[in-house]
Amino acid sequence: MNNAVAGFSKLSKKEKINWIANEYFSNPDEALSIIRNYWNTDEKLQQLHDEFIENTITNLYIPLGVAPNFLINGNYKTIPMAIEESSVVAAASKSAKYWATRGGFKATVIDTEKIGQVHFTFNGDAQKLEELFNQIKPKFFSDTQSITKNMQQRGGGILDIQLKDKRNLLENYFQLHATFETKDSMGANFINSCLEQFATTLKEEAQNADLEIEVVMSILSNYVPNCIVRAEVSCPIEDLTEKHITNPQDFAQRFVQAVQIAEAEPFRAVTHNKGIMNGVDAVVLATGNDFRAVEAGVHAYASRNGQYSSLSHAKIENGIFTFWLEIPLALGTVGGLTSLHPLVKLCLEILQKPSAKELMEIVAVAGLAQNFAALRSLTTTGIQEGHMKMHLNNIINQFEANDEERRLIKAHFKKTAVSHSAVVEFIENLRK
Ligand code: MEV
Repeated sequence: MNNAVAGFSKLSKKEKINWIANEYFSNPDEALSIIRNYWNTDEKLQQLHDEFIENTITNLYIPLGVAPNFLINGNYKTIPMAIEESSVVAAASKSAKYWATRGGFKATVIDTEKIGQVHFTFNGDAQKLEELFNQIKPKFFSDTQSITKNMQQRGGGILDIQLKDKRNLLENYFQLHATFETKDSMGANFINSCLEQFATTLKEEAQNADLEIEVVMSILSNYVPNCIVRAEVSCPIEDLTEKHITNPQDFAQRFVQAVQIAEAEPFRAVTHNKGIMNGVDAVVLATGNDFRAVEAGVHAYASRNGQYSSLSHAKIENGIFTFWLEIPLALGTVGGLTSLHPLVKLCLEILQKPSAKELMEIVAVAGLAQNFAALRSLTTTGIQEGHMKMHLNNIINQFEANDEERRLIKAHFKKTAVSHSAVVEFIENLRK
């Protein structure tokens, strides 16, 4: 079958959906009904979502949950999380409650610098290029005045622009490497607009000086190693005690060892960091931020020393257990989806309208909490006990259990270990 189509984006929404249903489904009516089931009944609201992207056919729901009782820098927060993985919100809530009685989370923004680059080639005397750059550097700032005016009023703007000789990497390759402060906005549009103006200025001035440069592209970098937040928990070892931690000294040592393994060994580091990103992405998504940008930047940071490694660290010193992480996060609480998506607005209100810096702290804490919960399970009971308990609902739904079956299954598996086969067997016996 040839599923190619011409002019798809110009079709109406109805025509697009009909094309999909007829092209890919043996029962098009069923497909149409699923697609329509997920439309919002409020047409205006649906139109808002339709217009976020091109070729919208419907909405894909991801649950939005909340994890309460996060004590961060002395204030309680309820953290909204958008995620489909069953155990994540439960784990975050458990960690929050645990640390709230042990001093809470401490979070600090270390720096908020963003980066953008104009990539260009120049096949001439590098000395002359440098002289030109130094001479026209103020012009990069003055030519972008109309773009930077508002940002400057909010205390942000262009921090610096440097010429970088990258010929050690590629033939004739140079960059304008610029740094920015974008305050409460993530700043992607601001940075990219500035960069495109830098490129225009550079081309014009190089032409005036008879230097031949070729601009390849102008774009922000999602690697932001100077836009860093740190989150930490700590307490005396004896305070670590709880239901599953009867020997706190032993637990602390095992926990530190688990972190050391992730620091030393990339296969484990990736999974360890994935657990951190369970918390990070869920809050990033709930607050309308760009989780792909965050993911790309965070993993680059995890490899900054030449080998992929753990983003979190742990130590025991003078009887005190300390667990912390440092991650790069370029986030915004104004602009983008933050003022457009009603649920994103709601989530930001639940977080009491944080500044971008405060949101960085909250997101980092969510990541640390998630990592703590995972390592606590892994080094004590194992991950499956809690995970399968949460997954039980998914299995029940898969078998379309009725209310009575649901009640009996839940009562039975309160006392018994959950496994897929055990639940299937139980349901089959019930239905005999
Ligand atoms: C599962 O989503 C995340 C974990 O695998 C993280 C970890 O292993 O640390 C539990």
